[in-house]
Amino acid sequence: MHDSVTVAGTSRSGTSVRIDGARLLDRLDRLAAIGGGEDGGVTRMGFSDADQEGRAQVARQAVEAGLTATVDAGGNLLMRRPADHRRSARPPIMVGSHLDTVANGGRLDGAYGVVAALEVLQTLHEAGTETDHEVVAVGFANEEGALFPQPFWGSMVLAGRLDALPSEPEDYAGRPLREALARAGGDLSQLKTAAWAPGSLTAYLELHVEQGPVLERLGRSIGVVESITGRIQMSVELHGRAGHAGTTPMEGRQDPLVVAARLISAVQSLAQEEKLCRVATVGRMEVQPNSPNTIPETVRLDVDLRDSDPARLDAAERTVRTALAALARSGDVRAVIESTMRSAPVQTDPRIRDTIAASATELGFTQQTLPSGAGHDAQIVADLAPVGMIFVPSIDGVSHVPSERTAPEDLVAGAEVLLRTVLKL
Ligand code: GLV
Ligand code: MN
Ligand code: MN
Repeated sequence: MHDSVTVAGTSRSGTSVRIDGARLLDRLDRLAAIGGGEDGGVTRMGFSDADQEGRAQVARQAVEAGLTATVDAGGNLLMRRPADHRRSARPPIMVGSHLDTVANGGRLDGAYGVVAALEVLQTLHEAGTETDHEVVAVGFANEEGALFPQPFWGSMVLAGRLDALPSEPEDYAGRPLREALARAGGDLSQLKTAAWAPGSLTAYLELHVEQGPVLERLGRSIGVVESITGRIQMSVELHGRAGHAGTTPMEGRQDPLVVAARLISAVQSLAQEEKLCRVATVGRMEVQPNSPNTIPETVRLDVDLRDSDPARLDAAERTVRTALAALARSGDVRAVIESTMRSAPVQTDPRIRDTIAASATELGFTQQTLPSGAGHDAQIVADLAPVGMIFVPSIDGVSHVPSERTAPEDLVAGAEVLLRTVLKL
């Protein structure tokens, strides 16, 4: 158990409401145990069994708190106060993040924002606080795209961007999303019913760990996010000719892994040397048949490009395509490249930024305005509502790894600022 950590916030009606810091930290521990590995890493890839278990745990906690928990057709978990407490006719304020993780990722990325959103909602409910807008807590489905390669799945559905999603998505092993989504309580044939219309939300707020070193280096406890990076993801397939590693002469080989290695180097160079985009990564590769004494037949890999300028991102994408064509030609392999995801860089809403900053000041927390280099559901929800994001420091600036951590007092501080921002909006 964590020591009780509480703070007072004040609603417009003057009601004093308090975040239960110990409950927040306990719930984070309990969630991290689902899909938790020996090394402290957490694997709850979107629509996996562990993800399903984690979502069920959070939903159960909401229901035990007297809230409702429903799953929309896209698999998003929506938590609300019971109907008789939804007194406001004004468009709701949505608060949340995602519940899925990358493979062997951290315990806080996404989970923190959802658990804190539940904490805010429960706190308001228990205090009987009337708010001008209904507050809806959300756990978005499959933000990471670690198993089903459609990152931002849940927020794309919520934002009605169905045309940008494949009609019958599959995971990396070719298993259909349709079935996994149904197990999670969604329905691939009814995605339209999960879309919220532009203007149907007053605001969307997301609390998240920074995942970088800025706040820690500056010694600030709250980050006010001013922008979220743009991103392009591409999948590449290279088809060569398999053969015996000992008997096939070097001359005339069609080795897709050699081409992949050159492509990876070109991708790194386009960010590092050529500065065509801020960062460029190949983080995933599959080799077939993946045998030490066989020339590979097929290689699949994913390229991730990020920049705050969409024109630079487009230019970087063109460079990858041109480089791939030349490398495939010289290596005598067949290449197929597809852009699988494109998210525009977004600015957060200035009024929400000011409100977050004022909330942090009133609560006595140090703060810093900063951009986000990671992608977030907020940048998708920005299609339908003004968005704001709050960051808390990441110890050693690391994320998507088992050692991802944030100091407990910073986790509680972030939730306090989230609650106060909701009340001020
Ligand atoms: C989301 O976690 C991202 O890759 O930025
Ligand atoms: Mn992540
Ligand atoms: Mn995240």
